[in-house]
Amino acid sequence: MKVHIFDTKEKLYDEVSNYYIERLNKNPNLNLGLATGTTPIPLYDRLIEAYKKGLVSFKGVKAFNLDEYLGLEKNHHQSYYYFMRNQLFNHIDINQNNCFIPSGDNPDHETAKKEYQELLKQNQVDIQLLGIGSNGHIGFNEPNTPFDTKTHVVKLDEKTRIDNSRLFNSLDEVPTHAITMGISEIMNAKEIIVIATGSNKKDAVYEMIKGNISENVPATVLQRHPNVTVYIDKDAASKL
Ligand code: PGA
Repeated sequence: MKVHIFDTKEKLYDEVSNYYIERLNKNPNLNLGLATGTTPIPLYDRLIEAYKKGLVSFKGVKAFNLDEYLGLEKNHHQSYYYFMRNQLFNHIDINQNNCFIPSGDNPDHETAKKEYQELLKQNQVDIQLLGIGSNGHIGFNEPNTPFDTKTHVVKLDEKTRIDNSRLFNSLDEVPTHAITMGISEIMNAKEIIVIATGSNKKDAVYEMIKGNISENVPATVLQRHPNVTVYIDKDAASKL
């Protein structure tokens, strides 16, 4: 696991976005595993800016998102389908038919799971982007998720719902369940990039890098992956 610590978020996101631009220019047909949440937004902003300047194209890219809330319509402003279009896909030249997100609005969860599992079996992710939950979750794989899981339906941790309630009108509105790429599928990516900023992530970051590998803290599994790079600011790194 390579760990890069930055004085400022600006430097962190400049470095990560330059890395993506470089990789995309070398291989315009990358399969990108993408993430939602607050963490990736400054990266997506920079990628949009680079696209607008003609420095990068996403025409050949396929995008595979980590997770989606269950029960929100696609056009709900907190659905990850909406988030990805609003924050990235509508502003770049990616083919929207090549943008995949687990179907949180399919009431047949079994089919939704199987479809995403099959998709990930057919398409290996080249670079998987991850944030980390303050409880150490990756995707919506909450503490005590077995490491061998594939795409599955999860009951969200109360901590996760409280963390994410800042984006909803109230805690009651935050969905109780989600569908997420499984840990074994995340680990199947050729390369993984983790970004974490802010002191509320310092415990999870410490465990991910220095903790014992344990299903209690899903991000610790990343210690077993051969190609992980962690980009953190000094607040997220403050316990290391
Ligand atoms: P955040 O979420 O980027 O909104 O902090 C990260 C995560 O839960 O993986």
